[in-house]
Amino acid sequence: MFWLWFWDAYLDRRMAWAVEPARADDIEDLVAIHGSAFARGWSAQEIDQLVADRAVIACVLRREGRSRPQGFALSRVAEDEAEVLSIAVAEARRGTGGGQALLGRHLGRLAGHGVRRVVLEVDEDNTPALSLYERFGFEKVGRRPAYYARADGTRGAAAVLALELP
Ligand SMILES: CC(C)(COP(=O)(O)OP(=O)(O)OC[C@H]1O[C@@H](n2cnc3c(N)ncnc32)[C@H](O)[C@@H]1OP(=O)(O)O)[C@@H](O)C(=O)NCCC(=O)NCCS
Repeated sequence: MFWLWFWDAYLDRRMAWAVEPARADDIEDLVAIHGSAFARGWSAQEIDQLVADRAVIACVLRREGRSRPQGFALSRVAEDEAEVLSIAVAEARRGTGGGQALLGRHLGRLAGHGVRRVVLEVDEDNTPALSLYERFGFEKVGRRPAYYARADGTRGAAAVLALELP
C-alpha cells in the first residue's frame, strides 16, 4: 500500500501542470481547496455563481492528464482592470511550483481579455503568497489595517498590490 502511494506521489510530481478554464463539475473540489486555505470558506453556491459570472475569469490547476483540480484562481474583470478574488493551491501540493504555473497562466488569460492592470489584497503575514506575487512583479500600492479575521480571533492587515501588464 505504501509503495502504491509512494509511486503515485512520485508520478504526480513529475507531471507538468495544466491550467484550464474552470468547469461546473470542478465546483466540489474548489470548495474543498478554498475551505482548507482560508478562515472563511466559500460555499458551493458562492463558487458556482462566480464561475458562471461572465465578468469572472476562473482558472483551475491540474496535473496534466489527471482530472481533479489541485488549485484555482478567480479574478473579476472590469474594463481593463482585474481584481484577483482568490487563488489557492491544495495543501498537499503547495511548494511544488503549482502557484507559479497557475498565476502565470491566469495573468496570461487576463491579458487576453484586455486587462492591463491587476490588483489584489493579501495578508501582510502570508509569506508564500507575497513571494509568489513578488516573483511576478506586483508592487505594494496600499495597506488596509485589521482587514482579515483570522481563525484565532485576531485581525491581520492587508497589503494592496498592483501589477501593470505589458
Ligand atoms: C500562495 C499559494 C497559492 C502559493 O502556491 P504554491 O503552489 O505553494 O506556490 P509555488 O510552489 O509556485 O511557490 C511560489 C512562491 O512561494 C514560495 N513558497 C511556497 N511555499 C512557501 C512557504 N511555506 N514559505 C515560504 N515561501 C513559500 C516559493 O518559494 C515561491 O517563491 P519563489 O518564487 O521566490 O521561489 C499557496 O501557498 C496557497 O494556496 N496558500 C493558501 C491560500 C492563500 O494564501 N492564497 C493567497 C491569498 S492572497
